[in-house]
Amino acid sequence: MMIDRKQIVEIAENYYTDEIQIGTVASHSALDVFDGAVEEGFKTFAVCQAGRDKTYTDYFRAQRDVEGNVVRGIVDGSVTYDRFNEVLLPENQKMLVDNNVLFIPNRSFTSYCGIDEIENDFAVPLVGSRNMLRSEERGIGQDYYWLLEKAGLPFPERINDPQDIDELSIVKLPHAVKKLERGFFTAGTYDEYLEKSRSLIKQGVITEDALASARIERYVIGPVFNFDLFYSPIEEEMNKIELLGIDWRFETSLDGHVRLPAPQQMTLAEHQLTPEYTVCGHNSATLRESLLEDVFRLAEKYVKASQKHYDPGVIGPFCLQTCIDKDLNFSIYDVAPRVGGGTNVHMSVGHPYGNTLWRKQMSTGRRVAYEVRRAVETNQLDKIIT
Ligand SMILES: Nc1ncnc2c1ncn2[C@@H]1O[C@H](COP(=O)(O)OP(=O)(O)O)[C@@H](O)[C@H]1O
Ligand SMILES: [Mg+2]
Repeated sequence: MMIDRKQIVEIAENYYTDEIQIGTVASHSALDVFDGAVEEGFKTFAVCQAGRDKTYTDYFRAQRDVEGNVVRGIVDGSVTYDRFNEVLLPENQKMLVDNNVLFIPNRSFTSYCGIDEIENDFAVPLVGSRNMLRSEERGIGQDYYWLLEKAGLPFPERINDPQDIDELSIVKLPHAVKKLERGFFTAGTYDEYLEKSRSLIKQGVITEDALASARIERYVIGPVFNFDLFYSPIEEEMNKIELLGIDWRFETSLDGHVRLPAPQQMTLAEHQLTPEYTVCGHNSATLRESLLEDVFRLAEKYVKASQKHYDPGVIGPFCLQTCIDKDLNFSIYDVAPRVGGGTNVHMSVGHPYGNTLWRKQMSTGRRVAYEVRRAVETNQLDKIIT
């Protein structure tokens, strides 16, 4: 059963507010979160996994002067487990609570620790909406597509049967070997779907099972804009919805393909023919001004629907991942109900939109920490944790 919000609020009520630390799983967007936390005067705590910990425990470790001001780096405290999911062990949860840690959920946290466990067992205050994390699991009953439909928001048309593929479509399924990565491919006809899927199964990139439950949808031909948004339940005077940044991703081997001339693409070996979509970096973008209001409309609708169907709804950072077609229509193809995966792009320097709104450098990480700061100062921490 989902941990009761009351229980979490009670835990946080026992925190020493002067000693609150910002913690997260040390991966994904953790650097942005830690950087923002330090900027807002918090100590930080990294939950690391052995073999991938040094970024946090060594290279970006914080050095503070006698007064506690940061001289270098961003990570104050850390723990390194053999596996990330050891953070779920009762004694390790207790350690976080004893250290007054508010935990920022990211995609690595949900992927490595498991949604059931986070919902039912992880009794550490999360900044954000615990019950919404599940919505990004494509294919479960009330996933983000379901919510987008309820909200009346545009998403790529679903194709229920591969035999109905009549124009360029994308088939979304997990990679067979690279756990947690994508085994996506595109096809313009049913024949192409058969040909490609057979080849990918033969190569061990995808499995028959995963293919059977894949989501197939129309491919939107146009640029990608991921909107790094923020919803503040404690804002009273200004709009509660903020656009902080816009990013898009570098993906292997897709980004290599688009840098080859077409004749060269045609002669690639079979194992190179179908690009992979593994995210390996981020870039920053801005949007044509006349389209910005559309984005706010999308965000307003999403937040409203989340409040109706996922009480209490979005809290803090979330990310609408969109494509824009030739008629400038948005399609939302993915939603992260938590800090997005591309926010390191405006880490520390802030983003044109966040900075413009706040009149100072405002990254997603800093915005999260600032929200905690404001909530603590106005005695409203209960409104931003679950
Ligand atoms: N309907 C679509 N049309 C065009 N490109 C898409 C579509 N859906 C996804 N993509 C591309 O695939 C990438 C990953 O898709 P996404 O649904 O976000 O997968 P994940 O859940 O693994 O993040 C996106 O960055 C985008 O470039
Ligand atoms: Mg995505």
